[in-house]
Amino acid sequence: VSGGKVFLVGGGPGGADLITVRGARAIAASDIVVWGRPLVTSDLIREHARGDAEVIVWPPATMADIEAAYDRAAAEGLTVARLHGGDPAVYARLGEELARVEARGLRVEVIPGVTAACAAAAAHGWELSCEADRRPLVLACARGPDGGISADLVRVAAEGDALALYMTGSDATALERALLDAGYPSDTPCAIGHAVSWPEEALDRCPLSDLGTHLAARERAGQTVVLVGRARQR
Ligand SMILES: C[S@@+](CC[C@H](N)C(=O)[O-])C[C@H]1O[C@@H](n2cnc3c(N)ncnc32)[C@H](O)[C@@H]1O
Repeated sequence: VSGGKVFLVGGGPGGADLITVRGARAIAASDIVVWGRPLVTSDLIREHARGDAEVIVWPPATMADIEAAYDRAAAEGLTVARLHGGDPAVYARLGEELARVEARGLRVEVIPGVTAACAAAAAHGWELSCEADRRPLVLACARGPDGGISADLVRVAAEGDALALYMTGSDATALERALLDAGYPSDTPCAIGHAVSWPEEALDRCPLSDLGTHLAARERAGQTVVLVGRARQR
């Protein structure tokens, strides 16, 4: 084990004040900060990174640059904070990152973050799941590996549970159609959170029958999460 350490930090949805205190402290304690520019705002880096920290910005930096930083951390006993958007354990390739760090003998600490579904729910005042009836909530990726609607989403949607949909993709009409075909009534309430906690945040609500139109109106589909109410009472 080397003297170096890597924090895999859940940066939250983007805003500088939606990171945990532990995450902010980890960034402030780090010699090197790896910032995925599309994932969290520049304010978050400015507010929490040390003035003398080396900030690696990707893109344009590549995975090879990040691995080189890990190599230096191992050789020189440096501390690195690698920022993930939201929570590192939710659609963020945490396993691959842990393997990269552990292969170099670096100590590692994972710090949780506010995942996009929770940030959007809070912004909307939307109850994701209810303690009284303990209904399930399914976190799902809407887009499959081929870019179309995910077969896994089609499978879980058949149960009609409340959904939090990540990676909604560019074909908003296909998403609306898939949920209608799965049996969700056309008046099922939906909440859209776009760029939650960023300066351009936009929140929108609509019945499922209008989801395609409302989603298509958003320009940056890569930063949109959709909350879908439960299809039927059990
Ligand atoms: C690769 S996943 C990463 C999820 C992240 N680890 C999390 O816990 O939120 C990227 C997806 O998260 C959602 N997302 C991330 N940040 C968001 C934000 N600020 N507002 C709305 N959705 C966001 C979008 O659905 C986006 O396509």
